[in-house]
Amino acid sequence: SNVAHELATPLTNISGYLEAMSDGTIKDEQLTKSTLKLLQDETNRLTLMVNDVRSLSSVENPNMQLTQKHYNLNDLINEIVSKMRPKYDKKQINVSVEIPDGIAEILVDKDKFSQIIINLLSNSVAYTPKDGFIRVSASEDGEYISVTVEDTGIGIPKKDLNRIFERFYRTDKSRSRKTGGTGVGLAIVKGLMEAHGGDVFAESEEGKGSKFICKFPKI
Ligand SMILES: Nc1ncnc2c1ncn2[C@@H]1O[C@H](COP(=O)(O)OP(=O)(O)OP(=O)(O)O)[C@@H](O)[C@H]1O
Ligand SMILES: [Mg+2]
Repeated sequence: SNVAHELATPLTNISGYLEAMSDGTIKDEQLTKSTLKLLQDETNRLTLMVNDVRSLSSVENPNMQLTQKHYNLNDLINEIVSKMRPKYDKKQINVSVEIPDGIAEILVDKDKFSQIIINLLSNSVAYTPKDGFIRVSASEDGEYISVTVEDTGIGIPKKDLNRIFERFYRTDKSRSRKTGGTGVGLAIVKGLMEAHGGDVFAESEEGKGSKFICKFPKI
């Protein structure tokens, strides 16, 4: 969906609250306090969105430079997964890493590869209830090394599956402010995968879980 439109929403809210405060509609102290809190929330949201647009435009830059090197896939993934431990431990979600010994090395830009896995893992943690499971695995065929992040979370409705990679697209259920995200995580994943000459695919069953498959060309 459209960036300007998304940015306009919090701005409209902010100007509404400001108007209510300056025209005297809001009199008592309690209401003033809660309106200030809403103003703060909307401003924070706007700041996050602007930051997201920034990282999106760097990802969508056709001149994006990759610094690709060969890395041990198992080490690379374990490094990322252990850095994120506090996040999934807090929700008592179990994360397992299953990389077959046969796949030793992958040619990637380390920072960008990390961003891909972090975005997918963050989603799995965010959209998987307490006590769930996440698995990061890999497989190999003639042309590709596939890295898969799958979870036992809420899943994605069929009608949304081919839209979730669009910038700012979020499924209805997660649209509530509480879940926080702005809907750019997967657009960034898509952009970074394409920059690597690969692609990302989603499979999901509502209520059962989701699976994201990243295909990196073998070179
Ligand atoms: N693992 C998952 N399980 C269920 N739904 C998911 C999963 N990953 C993504 N989604 C759905 O796809 C939408 C888009 O994901 P995306 O990562 O782009 O945005 P986000 O997580 O909402 O926000 P952020 O910009 O912080 O990443 C999410 O809002 C959610 O509805
Ligand atoms: Mg996300």
